[in-house]
Amino acid sequence: MDQDIDRILYSKSDINKACIRLGQELHQAYHDKNPVIVCVLTGGVFFTTDIVREMDCNLEMNFIDVSSYHGGTESSGSIDLVRDLDVDIKDRDIILMEDIVDTGRTLKYIKDLLSSRGAASVSTCALLDKPTSRLVEVRAEYVGFEIPSEFLVGYGLDYKGIYRNLPYIGILKSDVYT
Ligand code: IMP
Ligand code: MG
Repeated sequence: MDQDIDRILYSKSDINKACIRLGQELHQAYHDKNPVIVCVLTGGVFFTTDIVREMDCNLEMNFIDVSSYHGGTESSGSIDLVRDLDVDIKDRDIILMEDIVDTGRTLKYIKDLLSSRGAASVSTCALLDKPTSRLVEVRAEYVGFEIPSEFLVGYGLDYKGIYRNLPYIGILKSDVYT
C-alpha cells in the first residue's frame, strides 16, 4: 500500500499525540456526564477507540453509519442512513466521533438527526477538518488537525474501501484515482 502514497502528512506518533490531547479535552468537559460516544462508521472506529482510552470516566459507546461518498473521492451530496443507533439518546450528552469533515453534509445530517431525538447536547470530535471545503455551515468543536482540501487515506480513511489500516495519514497519489 505504501507505494500508492505520495506523502505522509501525519505519522503514527503525530496521531497518537493528537488523540491524547483530544482525549484529555473530552475528559475535562465530560467526566461527570456519562456521555454517549457516537462513532461514525467505518473510518471513525480507529481514532474513537484510541481517544476513549484517554478518557478515565464513565461513557457509553454506540455506532451509526451513513453513506455519502459512494466509493470515489467526491462527495455525492445525498446522504443515506445505513445503520442507526440502538440506544435512546433523549436527554443524553452526545459526542459524535467523525474521521474527517469535508463539505460538512454528513456531519450536519447526523447532528440534526440526533438533535431531533432530544439529545441534551451534541458536539463533534473530528480527527481531521478541511474548513476550506465546507458547503454547509457546521462546525466540529474538537479537532485533531486542520488540513487543506486534499484526498487523504490511512488510519481509518479509505479510498474505495482500502487503505484504512495504514498506521499513518497520507496523500494518495493522484494516478491511483485518475
Ligand atoms: P462530507 O459529508 O463531505 O463532510 O464528508 C464526510 C465523509 O466523507 C467523511 O466521513 C469521509 O468518510 C469522507 N471523506 C471526506 N474527505 C475524505 C478524504 O480525504 N479521504 C477519505 N474520506 C474522505
Ligand atoms: Mg465517514
